[in-house]
Formats: sequence, structure tokens, C-alpha cells
Amino acid sequence: MISAAVFASGSGSNAEAIVQASELPCTIQLLVCDKPEAPVINKAEEWDTEVFVCDPKTFKDKQSYEQAILTKLQEKQIEWIFLAGYMRLIGPTLLEAYPERILNIHPSLLPAFAGKDAIGQALSAGVKVSGVTIHLVDAGMDTGNIIAQEAVPVLEKDTHHTLHQRIQAIEHRLYPETISYILKERDRKE
Ligand code: GRF
Repeated sequence: MISAAVFASGSGSNAEAIVQASELPCTIQLLVCDKPEAPVINKAEEWDTEVFVCDPKTFKDKQSYEQAILTKLQEKQIEWIFLAGYMRLIGPTLLEAYPERILNIHPSLLPAFAGKDAIGQALSAGVKVSGVTIHLVDAGMDTGNIIAQEAVPVLEKDTHHTLHQRIQAIEHRLYPETISYILKERDRKE
């Protein structure tokens, strides 16, 4: 069985959806969190998943921060990384160790509304459709190859909260589905 890690910085609802998904062709062996106060850490106490809290403020630079994470990933023989609300750009240390093996979820139809607050950006732009994208991670901000997308209508009466809720409902299904899809595809090709 493939070993994977989930990286999260916030509430961790996507991390939870992945950890609790049945029939994934991988096991989630590690949760990496960069924020010692993040709610996902408490949530993870209920899962059978080791939590590695790694605060970048305690390292001299990004390279040594990512090296500490990489050492932990290697110790656990992690093969794939799933970013689930991890609010940092992945640097060369992790990108080189996991080429084409890091997935991210973003709450818009990329390339529209990349970066922070994609939901606020969509509401401000007045679009009628936004959505969810799952993509491979490269050195850019939300720029890697797109693996899956699903549209979500933006309703006249939508607030940030209501649109976010409908987008997250899709995310919680689409992320585990896409993980299954890409791992099986890779297995078929290798
Ligand atoms: C999700 O909406 C995801 O698309 C974005 O950050 C949010 C994380 O939410 N990258 P959660 O912590 O998984 O609830």
C-alpha cells in the first residue's frame, strides 16, 4: 500500500475527508501542520494518524524548515503528499524530493482566481460559476498541471460563507476521488 502525508494549516476538513475516505489506494501515515494552534491538530487526535507540527518560525530559513519535514517524510517512507489548506508555497527541497507527487486543492476553477481568498475574488468579480481544482504542485502559485475540476454555480444571494460551504461539499468528495484516480493511473503506467 502506498504511504502518503497530508499537509494542512487550518480547520482540516479536507484532511479529514481524505483520512476518512474508504477504499483509497494509499494510507495516510502523517499529518504535517505548520501552525501550532491550527484546529486540524485537535481533529487529528481522533484519527489514527501521526501529527508532525513543524513551525517555520523556529527555523533559520525555508530550506531548513522543509529539510526537517523531508527528514520526517523519509523516516515514514512517504511517497505522496496531499496539500489540504496548507498555506505555504512548496519550495525546491520538497519539490525535488517529490516530483509530480504533490497534489493541491484550490477553491476556484484555475487559472481563474489563483492565490489567496479565491472565494472572495470570485464574488468580487461577479462570476456566475466558480468551482474546485485539484492540480499537481510546481514552483508557482496554483500553477501546476490540472488533474480534476468541478464547477460550482455562484448564486445571486451567495455570501462568502454560503459559497465556501457549497465549494467545500464538492471538495470533500472530489479530493479523495482524484487521489484514487491519479494513484491508479500512475500504478498502471509504471
Ligand atoms: C479549502 O477550501 C481548499 O480549497 C483551500 O483551503 C481550504 C482549506 O479548508 N486550499 P480545510 O482546512 O480543508 O477545511
